[in-house]
Amino acid sequence: LLEVDGTYRATSRSVPGHENEIRSIPTWQARDDDVLICSYPKSGTHWIWEVVSMLMRSKAERVPGVKESAMLELIPQSRFDNLPSPRVLNTHLQYGQVPKDMLNRRCKILYMIRNPKDISVSFFNHHTKLLDYEFTGSWEQYLPRFLRGDVDCGSWFDFTLSWENFIVQIPDYPILAVYFEDMKNSNPLREIERIAAFLEVPCDVMFLERVAQLCNFNEMKRDKEPLEDAEDWRDGKPDMYRKGVVGDWKNWFTVGQNDLFDKVFSERMKNSQTNVRFS
Ligand code: A3P
Repeated sequence: LLEVDGTYRATSRSVPGHENEIRSIPTWQARDDDVLICSYPKSGTHWIWEVVSMLMRSKAERVPGVKESAMLELIPQSRFDNLPSPRVLNTHLQYGQVPKDMLNRRCKILYMIRNPKDISVSFFNHHTKLLDYEFTGSWEQYLPRFLRGDVDCGSWFDFTLSWENFIVQIPDYPILAVYFEDMKNSNPLREIERIAAFLEVPCDVMFLERVAQLCNFNEMKRDKEPLEDAEDWRDGKPDMYRKGVVGDWKNWFTVGQNDLFDKVFSERMKNSQTNVRFS
C-alpha cells in the first residue's frame, strides 16, 4: 500500500550549491532575542509568523517581506545578519539541525502543530500547484508518499517526534506548543494572548484584537505576499492560502485511506503526546 508513486522532484532546498549553506546551519551565530518558529510544512507557519512578528514589533501592521525571507534553510546567514533585532526566524528542520548557538542562548521557540491529516491534504495541494515540485501524481499516489516521509522536508512523524523528544529532554527550555486547531476554532484572541505572554511582550486588548483581525485567514489571503509569484504556480494562481480550515481531510480521505493513516499513525506515534490529541 505504501508503494504507489507519482513522479516527483525535490525543491530548491536540495538544489546543489545551497547544500553548503544548509550544512552550515548548526554552526550559525544567534542573538539572545531571536525567536524561532518550528513547524512541519503546511502547519500554519505563515500564520503564526505573522502573529509573532507583529507581537515582537508591537505593531499591528504587516511587514513588507515574507516568512520565506526568514527561513533558516532557504536564506544564507549573511542576509540574516542584516535583519534588525528582534528577528523572527522560522524553520522546517528537526531540532538536531537548528543552530546550536540558538539553543545555548535559550532563544524562545514556538512549535506549531496541526492535525497531520489536514497537513497531508494541504501539502498534496501545495505539491500539485507549486510548479517547482514537478509533481504529477494523484492524491491516491501522494498519501502513501506522505506516510513514508518521501516528501519535501521529510517525514511528519520524524519531525514531530524530534521536537517532542526535545521538549521531554529539556523540560525547562522556553518552547511553546501552539495548535492550528486552537488558533482557528477556539478563541483566537486567547491564543494570541498566550503567545504574547510567552514572548513577554507588553500589549493591551485593543492591540491583540487588531493582530487577530489582521492575521485572520481572509485578511492574509487578500494581502498575499509579493513573493507568491504567479508564474511559480500552476495556471498562474498562487495558492499559499488555500482554505484555512480544520478538518478538510474528511473531504479527501476514503475509509481505506483513513484506516491506513490511523494504522501508520498509531505505530509511529505510540509513545507520543501528539497521539492524545489527534488519534
Ligand atoms: P490549507 O492548505 O489547509 O488551506 P504553511 O504556512 O505552514 O505553509 O501552512 C499553510 C496552511 O495554513 C494552508 O492550509 C493555509 O491556508 C493555512 N493558513 C495560512 N494562514 C492562515 C490563517 N490566517 N488562518 C487559517 N489558516 C491559515
